Amino acid sequence: MDINSIFDENKAWVDKKVKVDANYFQELSKGQNPEILYIGCSDSRVTAEELMGAKPGEAFVHRNIANMVSNLDLSAMSVINYAVKYLKVDHIVVCGHYYCGGVKAAMESKDLGILNPWLRSIRDVYRLHRVELNKIADDEERYKRLVELNVEEQCINVLKTAEVQLAYRNRGLKVHAWVFDIHSGNLINLNLDIEKALKDIREIYHLE
Ligand code: CO
Repeated sequence: MDINSIFDENKAWVDKKVKVDANYFQELSKGQNPEILYIGCSDSRVTAEELMGAKPGEAFVHRNIANMVSNLDLSAMSVINYAVKYLKVDHIVVCGHYYCGGVKAAMESKDLGILNPWLRSIRDVYRLHRVELNKIADDEERYKRLVELNVEEQCINVLKTAEVQLAYRNRGLKVHAWVFDIHSGNLINLNLDIEKALKDIREIYHLE
């Protein structure tokens, strides 16, 4: 993508939108009422809105390296809080993707400086599931399974927050674990059982 063409691209996009609906941007400026909070990877190939077919205003989006939900990450915690408490989203999606560079880096014995603490949270996921992962002989299959397990663990991290527990109980907020398969373009639903996930963590993390 040529940086110099972006403003021309933007103008063409505005013209296209206004041609269909002259008030499109006036309507958009009135406010947002998204039903979904999407938490995904920053990877340039995994474009949240495009892969879901979502239009502006339909998804509240948070992206970082390897779609992590860390309780010390003020940005992620603020996004979840705002989306659940104020935007009142009905669904929170954590979407990982196969061939994730962040997950790959966490599987390697390398000192990556400032990235170490971030990747350590993924290494923690590996440690939690090492019996299952170490049984997978094929490197690529093990890597893909860690992507899936990481998504599930980040969903559990979402469920550990007070506002999510409250919204789950009071208005049936749902949490979904998805993986985007870059190789085929398909979105895969890992069919997370929220009730079971909550039951497993409730003893220790119950807040509401
Ligand atoms: Co990634």
